[in-house]
Amino acid sequence: MVRTTRLKGPTATKPMGPSERICTPQNSGVPPAQAGEFQPLRIGSLSLETPVVLAPMAGVTNYPFRSLCRDYGAGLFVSEMITARGFLLGNKLTTKLAAVHPGEHPRSIQIYGSDPKDLGQMVARLVDEGIDHIDINFGCPVPKVTRQGGGSAIPAKPRLLARLVRAMVAHAQDVPVTVKMRIGIDAQTLTHMEAGRAAQEEGAAAVGLHARTAAQLYSGDADWEAIGQLKSALQVPVLGNGDIFECWDALRMMRETHCDGVIVGRGCLGRPWLFGEFVAVFSGQEPAPPPNLGGVLEVMEEHGRRLTELFGEELGVRQMRKWTSWYLRGFRGAAGVRAQLSRLGTFDEMRPLISTLGLEQAFPRQALRASRAKGGRTQRVKLPEGYLDDRDDDTPPKGPHTADEIRAWEKALGAG
Ligand SMILES: Cc1cc2nc3c(=O)[nH]c(=O)nc-3n(C[C@H](O)[C@H](O)[C@H](O)COP(=O)(O)O)c2cc1C
Repeated sequence: MVRTTRLKGPTATKPMGPSERICTPQNSGVPPAQAGEFQPLRIGSLSLETPVVLAPMAGVTNYPFRSLCRDYGAGLFVSEMITARGFLLGNKLTTKLAAVHPGEHPRSIQIYGSDPKDLGQMVARLVDEGIDHIDINFGCPVPKVTRQGGGSAIPAKPRLLARLVRAMVAHAQDVPVTVKMRIGIDAQTLTHMEAGRAAQEEGAAAVGLHARTAAQLYSGDADWEAIGQLKSALQVPVLGNGDIFECWDALRMMRETHCDGVIVGRGCLGRPWLFGEFVAVFSGQEPAPPPNLGGVLEVMEEHGRRLTELFGEELGVRQMRKWTSWYLRGFRGAAGVRAQLSRLGTFDEMRPLISTLGLEQAFPRQALRASRAKGGRTQRVKLPEGYLDDRDDDTPPKGPHTADEIRAWEKALGAG
């Protein structure tokens, strides 16, 4: 069990006045929520006062990071994607990533799968374990996956998507099942409207929309208009996703698109206190300033302890290496210690190295919107030969079956 350490950050320090707000210019005039302006986010039987969801992120939203974000804030904290086949076969790492942690409530898991039988079985098992929310990933743009007709290729075939959602909902009892998808394959093949309607018809409790095509990957600006368009067509809640880097962006997205809640991905990498800022602005307050470098180091050490508890010291340290560059993004001198931190051997090496940068350094404003993961490249989406010729086809694509195939697949998914 994770030891809870009192975390410093927005929940622990004094809120700022509007004139001291640490934000980028586009957010300097955004007012905090007015009383009654936003409703709690209702996803089936769940009701979330702060309408914010931590995005499922492979290799990122494991229990240590989810628990850190939860300690700062409130909302829904979704697991990294768990492949249905790996879960059903009892794959060791998959089992660890999907494990129940006492006190984690609501407990939320994202599934990846494309076989209706697997999906139904996995949902039934999760429901038996007492899961509170299940999401399905229909947005993965990785070539290894789309080439077989999986991931972000699925919404292009609304009847197939409907079949997969139906298989899940049939076993979910009253646990809400939600769908997460992109706006389409590419600019020529936009799919979110039809796919959103199909998901709703089959009983999805909400639809999350990453407002980019699979071809865009993570490049350019997310198309928030598409979120508004989907919101105006559906009765179930729509969760907007894409480019929420500051707490104020969440308010702007909800005001502009009228979506019911937001999903936050890259913005919280190395910034778990962002969830405390969401709580503040959605309850009408200015957030406290982000921690200075000394405060960030304390968060990193706590994160390290939690990684070690779940994965053991060796794997925990290995995982921490990528986090160090996210946590230190924009701090003066960080580039000079990056190479050493990327070879980190023990957690004890972090403090002496980072202290050389000056722990009193304030959090760098220019780091608020800095890209922390996934570059700006685009891609030509790989699909099976003739895939778009029959969009009414509901034949499930071939997924990985053997343990080796699953391992290779999961590695590729992690890159998406
Ligand atoms: C490192 C990383 C891993 C991701 N893994 C997943 C995943 O497992 N499942 C998923 O649905 N989306 C995944 N995504 C996409 C995010 O959930 C989110 O849709 C995307 O980052 C856009 O939101 P943002 O602009 O707030 O980052 C991943 C994104 C990143 C950066």
